[in-house]
Amino acid sequence: MVDANNNLYREFLDVIEDLFDAPEFQRLSECRHHYGVSRMQHCINVAYYSFVVCRRLGLDYRAAARAGLLHDLFYYDWNSETMSFKQHAYSHSKEALKNAEKLTELTELERDIIKNHMWLCGAIWPRYRETYIVSVADKICALWEACRGVRIKATGMARKIPIGSRAA
Ligand SMILES: [Fe+2]
Ligand SMILES: [Fe+2]
Repeated sequence: MVDANNNLYREFLDVIEDLFDAPEFQRLSECRHHYGVSRMQHCINVAYYSFVVCRRLGLDYRAAARAGLLHDLFYYDWNSETMSFKQHAYSHSKEALKNAEKLTELTELERDIIKNHMWLCGAIWPRYRETYIVSVADKICALWEACRGVRIKATGMARKIPIGSRAA
């Protein structure tokens, strides 16, 4: 469990604060992403773990945190019947990149992270190590969140996600 008051977590919040407070990001709290997990919480989970791993490895942890936070910056319901999972898997990173570019100025690395975070879905090849790390963090978080949803469904017990305490 991550202590919201530890130095690492505070450093993470400093890096993402301007993006976190933007209405365009706050709107993600209204979007369901996985069972019982908002898109905002999912993005915070991915951003935080990417930040920690990249920092440990001496990589660009600032870019990993900021682009990780924006990697799913889109607003449609991907669970809707109007879109297949395959369509969603290919299109949402482009939509997120478009929205992120409207929100802030992105570096080449941050652009690569958002655009190619769906690595392993088709012919997508990241250009930077940070992109691979965010992509793997995304998959682990998605699996964890989905399993959490199954567990909640099975037991009827809601357990608090340990990170992103500022999120809804
Ligand atoms: Fe995504
Ligand atoms: Fe994601």
